Amino acid sequence: MPRPMIHILNGPNLNMLGQREPEIYGHETLQDIAAACEALGMQLGLEVALRQSNHEGEIVEMIQAARGVAAGIIINPAAYSHSSIAILDALHLFEGPVIEVHLSNIHRREAFRHHSFVSARADAVIAGCGAEGYALALRRLATLLRPAGSTQGRKT
Ligand code: DQA
Repeated sequence: MPRPMIHILNGPNLNMLGQREPEIYGHETLQDIAAACEALGMQLGLEVALRQSNHEGEIVEMIQAARGVAAGIIINPAAYSHSSIAILDALHLFEGPVIEVHLSNIHRREAFRHHSFVSARADAVIAGCGAEGYALALRRLATLLRPAGSTQGRKT
């Protein structure tokens, strides 16, 4: 059986992780996060594809392309979280679960980061867990996508 596909979409400046304000965003690179998510995906029975763009329209197109292909989306829209109704609208077109991830705790930072347009569509929001937030999101999607009554992937 093919593994359900999860798209992990990342917004502007996240290609610079590792070099970018490591005291806020940590030392792991986006490649490290991709590798960790692929390994965890294998354990959870999920296929994982991680993408990044610095352009709002490209992120909109990535979300549109996920329709009918991905079973779930994990998205860190980065600065577009706080400004992009276009990304929110695109996510409304997506039929599966959506989990919003922020490496930093946006609520402990500047006031302009406290509101995310994307949260209005997200099934869950994870903020302040660093790179581990992506792994937590993947685990949550595995739970949400598990067929009803299935014990697959359960620890007990
Ligand atoms: C971020 C938080 C945003 O406010 C910021 O613009 C980012 C990254 C995070 O992962 O903590 O680029 O989404």
